[in-house]
This record gives sequence, structure tokens and C-alpha cells, in this order.
Amino acid sequence: MSHHFLRFEQVRYRYPGGYEALRGISFELTHGEKAALVGMNGAGKSTLLLHTNGLLLPTDGRVVMGGITLTRRTLPIVRQAVGLVFQDPDNQLFMPTVEEDVAFGPANMGLTSGEIEERVAEALRAVGALHLRKCAPYQLSGGQKKSVSIATVLAMQPSVLVMDEPTSNLDPRARRQTIDLIRRFTHTTLIATHDMELAAELCPRMLIMKEGEIVADGLTERLFRDRELLEACGLEQPCRMRTG
Ligand SMILES: Nc1ncnc2c1ncn2[C@@H]1O[C@H](COP(=O)(O)OP(=O)(O)OP(=O)(O)O)[C@@H](O)[C@H]1O
Ligand SMILES: [Mg+2]
Repeated sequence: MSHHFLRFEQVRYRYPGGYEALRGISFELTHGEKAALVGMNGAGKSTLLLHTNGLLLPTDGRVVMGGITLTRRTLPIVRQAVGLVFQDPDNQLFMPTVEEDVAFGPANMGLTSGEIEERVAEALRAVGALHLRKCAPYQLSGGQKKSVSIATVLAMQPSVLVMDEPTSNLDPRARRQTIDLIRRFTHTTLIATHDMELAAELCPRMLIMKEGEIVADGLTERLFRDRELLEACGLEQPCRMRTG
């Protein structure tokens, strides 16, 4: 069985305050698929992504990763396979230096120091941040933090890559670099984004969320042509598809 597939089965999630942010989410991503997760602020995208590696566990329903149902007991296995880049890099970076942050995951996987060093250099190079390796994360700009937080996840060489707003705060060159590295990642990828150009360019499949539900799931190209649907979900066509 491929360990690269990710399935949500009727997942519901209620925050401790009582708000039900996920209201019956079902979908499956198969090996190598790239899907965008879009929807207005507050639609539930980040809440959904936090379920992919068990940072939140469903109130009801289940999440299955490569045949393993996510529970407290299976968390450690699933966390090694699913790499989640948070919306806010400050939640991802907590070590004194960038290279220690990137080394943290691989070190926990029991790799040798040589292997760890190699992974750190490779991941930082991939996001164009190798020159920042000795810096303290809190001294970095928002975009630099974002790039480094992506590197911390790449260094784990995950089977499934999950990213929450990977291009927010990035300048055009860093954004392009990030898009290129997501493109090079050949495994299953799920990306929550408000960047419709990115969705159109990178993700053949798109899931649209509204008020805790997936209201559309299909070919990105087709969904972006459905103006009524976009309007109802507060979304816009990517520039390249606008015909006036
Ligand atoms: N820790 C929390 N406690 C209570 N409610 C929360 C919490 N985090 C999020 N929510 C609520 O859950 C809903 C979904 O939030 P979520 O962050 O998943 O949305 P989102 O689609 O990621 O939005 P954005 O595009 O702004 O990032 C919102 O109504 C939000 O207020
Ligand atoms: Mg969010």
C-alpha cells in the first residue's frame, strides 16, 4: 500500500470554545497528486491542514495516512511522513539558529551527524537560504522566516507535503523559488493558499472550502471557469484566465 495517500473521512472538528470549524470533510489525495485548498478567510483551511499530521484530532470521522488511521498512538509514525509548513513561521522556528531549526527534525529521526548536515544544507539551498544558516530565526524578515520554515519540513523528506500559505510574505523572487521547489517535489502535496496564480500554475486539482465544508473538488482549470461558484465562495480567477 502506498504511504503517500491521504484520506479524510467525514471529518468534523469543534474548537474547545464550541465553534465547529470542520463540518464533514471527505476527500482523498493519491500518490503524486498536487491539490490546492482555497476559500475565504475563516473557511477552515488551516484547521483542516492541522488534521493532516495530528496537531488536531477530529471530533468525529477519521484521517487516514497511507493506510494508518491517525490516533494519539500512531502520531509519531504519521508525523515523520507528513511534513506540515505552518501559516505562521513563528510557530515553526524555535531554536537559536536557523541550521539548528532545520536539523531538529532529521536529528529526531536518528540520522547520523553527517546525514543531518547534508539534509540541512540541501534543504536550505532548495529555498535559497543557505547563507542564513548561522542566523537567529528571530532576526530574519518575514519572508526569510517563511523560506526557512519550508526548509525545516523539506529536511524531513516527507512523503506528503502540506503547506499553509507558502507564498505569503515572499518577494517575487522568493515566491518564484518556492513555486519551483513545490513543483520539483514529486510526492503528494496539499497547499492552502490565497494565491490563485499559484493554484492555477501548480495544482491540477483544487478543493474549495466554505464555512467548514468542501463545496467543490475538481480540476483547477474547470473550477476557475465557473464564475458563479467563485463568486459564491469569495474567490477570483487568476489573472491569466481573466478575459474581461
Ligand atoms: N484556536 C481556535 N479557537 C477557536 N476557533 C478557532 C481557532 N482557530 C480558528 N478558529 C475558527 O475556525 C474557523 C476556521 O479558521 P481557520 O484558521 O481554519 O480558517 P482559514 O480558512 O485558514 O482562514 P485564513 O484564510 O484566514 O487563514 C474560523 O471561524 C476561526 O475563527
Ligand atoms: Mg489559515
